[in-house]
Amino acid sequence: MRIDILTILPRLLDGPFNDSILKRAIDKGLVEVFIHDIRTYSKNKHKKVDDYAFGGGAGMVMQIQPIADCIDFLKQSNDYDEIIYMTPDGKQLNQRMANQLSLGGNLMIICGHYKGIDERLREKYITKEISIGDYVLSGGELAAAVLSDSIIRLIPGVLNDETSALTDSFQDDLLAPPVYTRPAEYDGMKVPEVLLSGNFKKIEEWRYEQALERTKKRRPDLLEKK
Ligand code: ADE
Repeated sequence: MRIDILTILPRLLDGPFNDSILKRAIDKGLVEVFIHDIRTYSKNKHKKVDDYAFGGGAGMVMQIQPIADCIDFLKQSNDYDEIIYMTPDGKQLNQRMANQLSLGGNLMIICGHYKGIDERLREKYITKEISIGDYVLSGGELAAAVLSDSIIRLIPGVLNDETSALTDSFQDDLLAPPVYTRPAEYDGMKVPEVLLSGNFKKIEEWRYEQALERTKKRRPDLLEKK
């Protein structure tokens, strides 16, 4: 899998891909991630990438030319399964979307800023518009990092058994059950007996009941989907 991210703030994406699980996935060759600075594609002599909105109003709009040239350039040498625009008016990211996007292929992710990108870019190039929640970020970079993380951790070989994605919250429309580690007693607080019993059937049953209970209490909407 290959992910190309187009941004005017490439340094914002340095951190997430240079540590822990994402870095390991890249180092193992399971995913390639390329960050492209949209500004370097600007034909303006001051490397401008935005301008006032036609019709007036507060806020700048990202111009077509630098982004279109960057996309066209990348499309010359790669095929993309999706060209994704991170935007608060997109479809809200969920585990099902992450699962589907992790199945392979190449993704391009465009990060917006200010009032967003010129609508004509959306019409011509964008195949999927994704929001990470009903709030507005300063730009799409953090959202692109969230999306990439949710996808990359699902690529076979990225997680080992200890970090397996199969038992994550949402994988079966249930929240994950509570977890405990050593010591078995801390300051008078004990770990549930069943987890120390060694009876794996009982442990699995307990975990399922706890997951169901937690989901009923905190996210009953997930159960309605079942
Ligand atoms: N850009 C700004 N806010 C965003 C959000 N909530 N989701 C995705 N991209 C964004």
